[in-house]
Amino acid sequence: MYESIIALGIESSCDETSIGVVKVTVKDGISVTERLGLVTETQEKLHKDFGGVVPELAARAHSEKIDTCFNKALKESGVQLDHIDIICVTTGPGLIGGLISGINFAKGLAFTTGKPMIGVNHLVGHALTPQMTDDLSYPYLLLLASGGHCQYLAVLEANKIKRLGTTIDDAPGEVFDKVAKMLNLPTFSGSGVEKFARKGDENRFSFPLPLINTNDCDLSFSGLKSSVRRQVDSLVDKQSGLYKSDQRDICASFQKSMRIIFEKKTKKAVELFSKVSWEETTSFSLAGGVAANRDIRNSLRSLCNDLNIKFSAPPLDLCTDNGLMIAYAGTQIYLSGKQDNMGLSPKPRWPIDLDNQKPLGFGKRGRKV
Ligand code: KG4
Ligand code: ZN
Repeated sequence: MYESIIALGIESSCDETSIGVVKVTVKDGISVTERLGLVTETQEKLHKDFGGVVPELAARAHSEKIDTCFNKALKESGVQLDHIDIICVTTGPGLIGGLISGINFAKGLAFTTGKPMIGVNHLVGHALTPQMTDDLSYPYLLLLASGGHCQYLAVLEANKIKRLGTTIDDAPGEVFDKVAKMLNLPTFSGSGVEKFARKGDENRFSFPLPLINTNDCDLSFSGLKSSVRRQVDSLVDKQSGLYKSDQRDICASFQKSMRIIFEKKTKKAVELFSKVSWEETTSFSLAGGVAANRDIRNSLRSLCNDLNIKFSAPPLDLCTDNGLMIAYAGTQIYLSGKQDNMGLSPKPRWPIDLDNQKPLGFGKRGRKV
């Protein structure tokens, strides 16, 4: 059997408007993926002064930018709308306004062209990315660490993903962003913290390692965030401000805590993996925006080396939110015989593993999915 599908993927669940085009060719059961084009517009500047994503602003910006992204992505891909076989769109989890912008755009395209439309879970998009980028075969262990999520996932098949552990409060990217803001760094993002950490002393401050000794791979970051806040306040009280060396040392010490938490919990996740899978973990992949952090990436790579596990991490533009991962995950859903209709609606809370919702803890707006 030989089948080639060109998929358009639309992502607008948070603060990136992104359209990707991918070609997946399946020949004798082997799937070959070709990245045709990806255009991503980030809203980082728009939300900077608010210290977090403002849902209303985000939704409006998605609606304004989506059309331009679409046209640019088709141009970059060298395909016309006629060549697209399926239209895939993030349906959740995410901010409802952004999801509606994307879904409405997808519906418009599907309605006018008569092409199939597929709603995709954003987390499944992240979870299947290593297949697209590194040809990782099932089963594999994935750590998704981003601004909205933190989960260890056993990816057994495209439609069989088990959650082994999750954050019980904040997401790590969110905490990186808040630390950058507390320290008033030039960019309120993890990349800013990483840059300052490079010249800092990681042993100057000792920040906590929440849940580090529990016998599971659930994670917690809010105590770490509060501890950084207290340290910043105490230095400001004492010396009426922060020196650059303070900023650098806090970044380095905070990043060290993050690194240790991920090292410890990844070890645990590797152990737990064999309880849900028919074989031991042989491959581990790191995804989500926090995967861009070189310190965390390198420490997990060397841990995998020690454990004799293959390590992979997608290229940076596919670690953060993007339309290509949605296009790819959409093809897998389509190949399994599923598609959606005009009744497709947003699912702001859409856990990846519906069998696993034990109430471990709560974030500000309920449990993180
Ligand atoms: O996956 P992503 O684009 O969006 C969400 O689904 O959240 O991740 C964005 C997050 C932000 O919180 C950002 O601070 C974090 O990824 N991030 C980093 C780095 N680059 C981006 N965190 C730590 N170190 C980095 N170099
Ligand atoms: Zn994401």
